[in-house]
Amino acid sequence: MTQNSSSSTDKRTERKYSDNLFYSALKRENGEADTATIASHVGCTRRTAHNRLNLLANGDELSKRTVGGAILWRLDSLAIPQVDTSDLDQTWRSAPKRWSDSLHKIAPYVGGFPASLANYFIKRFTNSGDVVLDPFCGGGTAPLEALFLNRTAWASDAFSYAHTLTTAKCDPLPRDELTTYLDQKLDESDTIDNTNFRLLDNEDLHVFYSDYTLDQLLRLREVLADDTSREAMYLKALVCGVLHGPSEMFLSLSTRDTFSGSTDYVRRYAEKNNLERPERDIRDSVLRKQDLLERDPWPTNPDSNVVKADARDLPFENNNADLILTSPPYMRVLDYAWNNWIRLWWLNDDRDQERDKLDITASESKYRDFVRETLQEMERKLAPGGYIVLIVGDVRKNLTNHVEYINTAYLIAEEAADHTDLIPRQIINDDYDLDHRNYARANRLRYDYDKDTTEEKAMSRLDRCLILSNHDHQLPDSDTVDLAWDA
Ligand SMILES: C[S@@+](CC[C@H](N)C(=O)[O-])C[C@H]1O[C@@H](n2cnc3c(N)ncnc32)[C@H](O)[C@@H]1O
Repeated sequence: MTQNSSSSTDKRTERKYSDNLFYSALKRENGEADTATIASHVGCTRRTAHNRLNLLANGDELSKRTVGGAILWRLDSLAIPQVDTSDLDQTWRSAPKRWSDSLHKIAPYVGGFPASLANYFIKRFTNSGDVVLDPFCGGGTAPLEALFLNRTAWASDAFSYAHTLTTAKCDPLPRDELTTYLDQKLDESDTIDNTNFRLLDNEDLHVFYSDYTLDQLLRLREVLADDTSREAMYLKALVCGVLHGPSEMFLSLSTRDTFSGSTDYVRRYAEKNNLERPERDIRDSVLRKQDLLERDPWPTNPDSNVVKADARDLPFENNNADLILTSPPYMRVLDYAWNNWIRLWWLNDDRDQERDKLDITASESKYRDFVRETLQEMERKLAPGGYIVLIVGDVRKNLTNHVEYINTAYLIAEEAADHTDLIPRQIINDDYDLDHRNYARANRLRYDYDKDTTEEKAMSRLDRCLILSNHDHQLPDSDTVDLAWDA
């Protein structure tokens, strides 16, 4: 090939594959990768990748090193040491499927991480008596595991359902106290004049409930409306856990328990399958649920502080959290308000208002702003010598000509490196089977809700655990964690 034709080939490949594609491929690999991996992400040949990377390495953003005969290309701005769960001797992955204490099962929370993961990180990064904070606590997985391990749990979430559920988990009522309170409230609710469902503000509920059960729900909802006592929060959460689901313990016709389906879908489904709306009593359902929750022991002397708050402005003491273990929302993957619309109705909360409080953005720059402010707030809360562990999934974006993967953990690490004194220490890559994730299966059901497919398309198969710290001490060894499920 003459020099002219080879340089025109270079020009053509330059036009076809922008520099950005190569940088994005490196970010997908946490900042460092070999030629073959980069070529496969970009969709070009190894030779093209090698030539282009060599050119880019002449600038000041990329460097290369040779390890065991292979060339590794590295982003000079940030390359984070990484490890796969399969390479670690000990992780939450060795836990039996659905390993968790029964108290976790008060009510489902879509998008939560496994209790075994929380247990593993809390054991690895803290000691008995330490403070564990989760500022996006969702269903309360991390705070409850912290309590089981005799740590102090601080937890918050901007979403009312998450707040109710976590409050209940962290301060549960034993059966005798629950029964006394429940009977008292049911008696009170009997005295409410509820003729002709005058309190019914959402006609769609008739699709899910018999008149008999709906009448009970409406009365009790009215009686509990402004009550934020420990007893009321627990009872509200328990009812959230029996509002809809597939067995006789649930108050609705047979449906999914994980998230509230759309009324039209459920109406059609019920007609097609001849589903009856059962006449069920709240008291029976709630006490059956309580029996399930009491199957395993509960934390003794739980020490917790659970609040409803935006993660950018947390009402906790500064410099006090030994570990912040959390899973922030990531670019429009889940719409919590929609997924829980019946629970929000039961809690007397407005779906649209709740939705507006949560970070559901598809814009990368807005998401970066949100991440930056959140990290700065976490940095303020972290105790000297503390760690932050963030669990996030990669996001897949379908653009006109190609699919782009965003490595959310790397994006967060970039914000931390650029705008805080936190040090990105390691990324643990956790490649999982989508079919084992509740929310993945739930989204596949394709309830006739237009956002549904957007959510599914935004998911990818990779979760990552980003570890940050405010010091450079050696990371506690994974091998020394005393795994609860191995006992
Ligand atoms: C991935 S979920 C956390 C799930 C949790 N780890 C669990 O196991 O259930 C993310 C949470 O972030 C909350 N969230 C979204 N935007 C928020 C904000 N600005 N401030 C506080 N919480 C927010 C959502 O309500 C949701 O519960």
